[in-house]
Amino acid sequence: MERRTATFQKYLFVCENVRDGGRVCCGPRSTGFVEYLKNYVKTKGLARKVRVSRTGCLDVCAKGPNILVFPDNVWYSAVTREDLDQILREQIDPLIVEESTLPIEPPQLRVRSC
Ligand code: FES
Repeated sequence: MERRTATFQKYLFVCENVRDGGRVCCGPRSTGFVEYLKNYVKTKGLARKVRVSRTGCLDVCAKGPNILVFPDNVWYSAVTREDLDQILREQIDPLIVEESTLPIEPPQLRVRSC
């Protein structure tokens, strides 16, 4: 066994589980969510910081579709396609670092030898 810290800064777990017998579940209602979220993450250059993953049942089927954000432990339930942009604004946009906000490197001192 190997133990280490998480590779990504943030994980979005999107339930796509389909339950037998027509029981309520996330699966059919979350179709396309992963692709939409992944595409946004990629276009913002955050693929090394954020992982969007499909997941099986998160045990809150009746409240689905469900998205769990880790390590924040934030749950989004009854998510619709129209809600995805809000989730991205809340969870992903704060990770975008604008070039103008990066710390400016202090000038290097040059030491002259006599
Ligand atoms: S099917 Fe998504 S939480 Fe159970």
